[in-house]
Amino acid sequence: MARTIVVTGAASGIGQALAALLTRRGEHVVAVDVTSGDVVADLSTRRGRDDAVEGVLDETGGRIDAVVANAGLALPVRETVAVNHFGAVDLLTGLRPSLAASSRAPRAVVTSSMATLLPVHAPLVEACLAGDEDRALALAAELEAAGPQAAATIYPSSKRALSRWVRRVAPLPVWAGAGIPLNAVAPGVVRTPMTAAMTATADGRAALDAVVPMPLGGYLEAGQVAALLAWLVSAENTHVCGQTVHVDGGSDVLLRGDDVWSWHDADPGTLSPRTGVATTHVPVAT
Ligand SMILES: NC(=O)c1ccc[n+]([C@@H]2O[C@H](COP(=O)([O-])OP(=O)(O)OC[C@H]3O[C@@H](n4cnc5c(N)ncnc54)[C@H](O)[C@@H]3O)[C@@H](O)[C@H]2O)c1
Repeated sequence: MARTIVVTGAASGIGQALAALLTRRGEHVVAVDVTSGDVVADLSTRRGRDDAVEGVLDETGGRIDAVVANAGLALPVRETVAVNHFGAVDLLTGLRPSLAASSRAPRAVVTSSMATLLPVHAPLVEACLAGDEDRALALAAELEAAGPQAAATIYPSSKRALSRWVRRVAPLPVWAGAGIPLNAVAPGVVRTPMTAAMTATADGRAALDAVVPMPLGGYLEAGQVAALLAWLVSAENTHVCGQTVHVDGGSDVLLRGDDVWSWHDADPGTLSPRTGVATTHVPVAT
């Protein structure tokens, strides 16, 4: 029996490719976008997000099995924070009770970005994580006014906050405890309308390649990201929890290197600052 899967940003690019893939696989897709779809709503405003949640519940009778919060903007403006962070978080939070009621493999995923690895504006990330949209938008407006270099931190900040929110809430009783895997994907450069102007010229490609090295496979097509999103919301995904899964041709490993475990080694035997769980190695019989 078809599962009902909500996809935001379904009118273009990755979301459109995902909606087509899921439909081909026999799933029932509810397309949400500001331009067209089953539910037309503007995720950049609180009112628009309430309309989106209400529209999805009307459209489905409250029976949904997965949500893909994918809509996004990559412009160096405050709306980018509103859509990318608060649009995703508020939609997922609003639809979570319906997901929890699903008996058909409830799942949730957001589209983050490899841009989480680029320079961010820490106070903006913290304001997002604190759920303080007014402060986040005010900070983004300041960055916008401060010029292109400062404004360039807006998009990475919105995605860093989103990936951190996923890590923060995914193991909680309301997500993991309710049997709902919540994860993120982090694409490298994907050929969609979002990047078309940049990938169209040699100068644009050189600028992209300087910050997003992709030794494996070059630029992505939208369908290649859609395939990963589709797996993360499938019944096959039973235990991936709170991860930001990079589908970036190698950007993450090149930028962060091979040792992302140093926090553990610094003082073996200490407790995790967040959970109090011992981080000491447990000897494993081989
Ligand atoms: N293209 C890339 O290289 C790339 C890389 C990493 C991450 N991403 C992320 O992937 C996601 C999809 O991007 P894409 O490349 O398919 O771009 P796209 O521009 O082709 O599609 C984005 C979709 O989001 C919708 N959207 C924008 N603002 C909205 C709003 N206020 N309310 C509702 N819908 C809104 C747009 O109408 C559009 O249909 C975004 O979150 C983006 O940040 C893209």
